[in-house]
Amino acid sequence: MEIYDLIVIGGGPAGYLAAERAGHAGLKTMVVEKNEFGGVCLNEGCVPSKTFLNSAKVVDYANHAAKYGVKVDGKATVDQKFVVERKNGVVKMLVSGIKAALKKNKVVMKSATAFIEGKDVNGYIVKAGEEKFSAKRLLIATGSTAVVPPIPGVKEGVTAGYVLTNKEVLDLTELPKNLVVIGGGVIGLELTSYFSSVGVNVTVIEMLDKIAGPTEKEISSILQKSLERKGVKFNLGCKVVAVEKDGVVFERDGKQEKVPADKVLLSIGRRAVSANIGLENIGVNIERGAIVTDDKMQTNVANVYAAGDVNGKIMLAHTAYREAEVAINNMLGKKDIMRYNVIPSVIYTNPEVGSVGDTEESAKARGLDVKCVSIPMTYSGRYVAENTDLDGICKLVINKATNTLIGAHIIGSYAGEFIVAVSAMVDLEVDIENIKKLVFPHPTVCEIVREAIFQA
Ligand code: NAI
Repeated sequence: MEIYDLIVIGGGPAGYLAAERAGHAGLKTMVVEKNEFGGVCLNEGCVPSKTFLNSAKVVDYANHAAKYGVKVDGKATVDQKFVVERKNGVVKMLVSGIKAALKKNKVVMKSATAFIEGKDVNGYIVKAGEEKFSAKRLLIATGSTAVVPPIPGVKEGVTAGYVLTNKEVLDLTELPKNLVVIGGGVIGLELTSYFSSVGVNVTVIEMLDKIAGPTEKEISSILQKSLERKGVKFNLGCKVVAVEKDGVVFERDGKQEKVPADKVLLSIGRRAVSANIGLENIGVNIERGAIVTDDKMQTNVANVYAAGDVNGKIMLAHTAYREAEVAINNMLGKKDIMRYNVIPSVIYTNPEVGSVGDTEESAKARGLDVKCVSIPMTYSGRYVAENTDLDGICKLVINKATNTLIGAHIIGSYAGEFIVAVSAMVDLEVDIENIKKLVFPHPTVCEIVREAIFQA
């Protein structure tokens, strides 16, 4: 049996990056993937949805071209088949890039289903397809899968193909007339943004009384209004009771209503994939389906690590990247720990949202004395020059005791790109007086942060 220093199970963002780093550091590494390298993020999540959303942005621009003094004859529409083909091309290119990076770092890529059989003197025994391998260390990076709730009609709809998750919806080559989105979280909203821009009637049914989960209230309300302007209907505080072939039945204040649908998108969250990997054969602790890890990404079992969605902490690809690095550094004996308090998040709707750190609510719940400032994005010259809908805002949360920024929440163009700059200020606990001395390029949208700091 061939012995590896490290076997990584799962080739998504956590798995491929960990394998790449481990290979680079000289560990004899194999990564086993049962589907396509790149995982959900690259093949059926983050990246494909961004190709869709970019097409929607082009449609939005074309249909509002007159507002910018540009004449366009007729209405812009998408060629959905082409959008899917382009998406497939983008995914193919990026997957080949990942494979090339793994190859360059001498990582063995194995396309198979991995199963941990147990342990012997050489290490952990991993069956991959029909072969068996031994590993001194394991990294579990098996990711997550969409939650399919036990709502009547959902299972039948999935089988028949009219109930879709993020995976199937990104392969739709024909646009539905009426799309019902169950769950107004990140996936639901990004796809709502796409489908509403390209002319589909979209109705969102969300259990909570606001969209976008933990997003700052002011921001989620602006996002909701902006999507409503595109014709999206939101049913908040509503419970789906049944999915039928021609529509979705839900309850509002105890009364049932039905909304027509020819396709239904399920986006009510994701759950870790921890079953059928053989984790029980080596005694790895699992809580509510997710692998329990410490801040070094170690499980309760020696030399067994877990990174990415499978540990159920923060299900974001960039969290997975960092967790992967922390795991590998610890395997290599380098001091490194994972911190979850300053992880930026982006909702790639149009307009997009970038957030990091505390909201006013979460800071107050932590008992902090905070000063908050919320200013319109119109303080930015570039924002005004480039937009006609001008309702974006930038909200900052400042810890009065330390005079540092502890949260930033921005809705408007490029927010997803420049949130990382604010994230660095939060992470490095830069004193507000020092932020004031930073020079921002002018005119940029990110100048809004400097302006908000001075307004505060
Ligand atoms: P989510 O947790 O973001 O949102 C799910 C929403 O569904 C919640 O608002 C919840 O209240 C609602 N919900 C739950 N059960 C429901 C029911 N029976 N009826 C109506 N509403 C119900 O989950 P989502 O959107 O599926 O995303 C999954 C994961 O993928 C998240 O962890 C997210 O962070 C990640 N993701 C991140 C992206 C980004 O960073 N841009 C993009 C896409 C996904």
